[in-house]
Amino acid sequence: MRLHDTGLSAKLLKEKATQYMIETYERFDFVADHAKGVYLYDEQDTPYLDFYAGIAVNSVGNCNQKVVKAVQEQAETLMQVFNYPYSIPQALLAEKICTTIGMDKIFYQNTGTEANEAMIKMARKYGVENYGSNKYHIVTAKNSFHGRTFGSMSATGQPDNACQIGFGDMTPGFSYAPYNDLEAFKAACNENTIAIMIEPVQGEGGVNPATMEFMQGLRKFCDEKGMLLLLDEVQTGWCRTGKWMSFMHYGIKPDIVSMAKALGGGMPIGAVCATNEVAKAFSAGSHGTTFGGHPVCCAAALAAIEEMEDKHLAERAECMGAYFMGLLKTLPHVKEVRGQGLLVGVEFDTLSGVDVKHKCFDKHLLITAIGAHIIRMVPPLIITKEDCDKAFAIIKEAVEELSA
Ligand SMILES: Cc1ncc(COP(=O)(O)O)c(C=O)c1O
Repeated sequence: MRLHDTGLSAKLLKEKATQYMIETYERFDFVADHAKGVYLYDEQDTPYLDFYAGIAVNSVGNCNQKVVKAVQEQAETLMQVFNYPYSIPQALLAEKICTTIGMDKIFYQNTGTEANEAMIKMARKYGVENYGSNKYHIVTAKNSFHGRTFGSMSATGQPDNACQIGFGDMTPGFSYAPYNDLEAFKAACNENTIAIMIEPVQGEGGVNPATMEFMQGLRKFCDEKGMLLLLDEVQTGWCRTGKWMSFMHYGIKPDIVSMAKALGGGMPIGAVCATNEVAKAFSAGSHGTTFGGHPVCCAAALAAIEEMEDKHLAERAECMGAYFMGLLKTLPHVKEVRGQGLLVGVEFDTLSGVDVKHKCFDKHLLITAIGAHIIRMVPPLIITKEDCDKAFAIIKEAVEELSA
């Protein structure tokens, strides 16, 4: 649907949205009318260089043609059947995902937060069934972000954040330790701890990659204690960081890993993958979903993964990320540039990240801001050096104008 098909002006459409929608988002002041590749366009075809990609979703590019075709074909063939019969894209995707990332089993969900709910539930059930009724405690990281349903919210180590304030008690069974502090994580575990759960790169928490020592240390500690290592790869998964999954940078494997965002090539799909041993915790009736494993979303994900393979998007993310971060380090007012692949953050000394974001928007570059002084960029992984040069020139101009 394009705006001109509706007969409405952009102004009228925005008025309708404001009148009828419950608003929890700070919106960019334009109508995203259509999109292609690395650009979003308004109704007048004004291009916006898209360095947020639906927040790390459109990794294979906006409206990727293979994904679009897969969606169209599947929608015409079989749209939704619930999970009673077998469905073709589900089974094919399950094999593709498990063999690509080296895990045994998959359970489909629809979103990142749901994938994390499934991960938390599976770990808790594994603990209770194998070790006793109190064995469900999980240690997660301070400053983490795992989603907005109650289990994921409770796993999120940000008690002062708007995502937790005003909702009453969180789900019990979680403790929090500072990220990248192995000894603090060990100390936060007790005799009832069944798992440690982290993001390999904290995304919403300010783009903080796990150190090698931390990740490998957690794996070793979990093995020694018979505990599970749960990785939230909702943002880092599917080539974003320069590998299929971020855990592959560290030479370790999780017991359960969650994923969503880029997996569906723009369609909503989430999932958890687990080892055979841990997956046994879920059996008939213990978990389920109406839409999880939706045939159209699975078909889209299959096409997206094929695109990632054909276009070598992991390698591309690695090399474009290094190139882009190299440019960003030369910006004035930079305290630190950090990231993994094309999950990139810039922390400024005193400049406001939100101000930089707004300035960039005025110049038709879309980025996001986190906290007081950080901007985050998660562009489609198909970006070229020219796209990076263009984005960098805009950010530089924005920073210079703000510091003038
Ligand atoms: C690491 C991480 N986990 C979970 C989520 C929640 O995903 P969703 O918004 O699809 O529920 C996000 C979303 O930004 C995320 O970055």
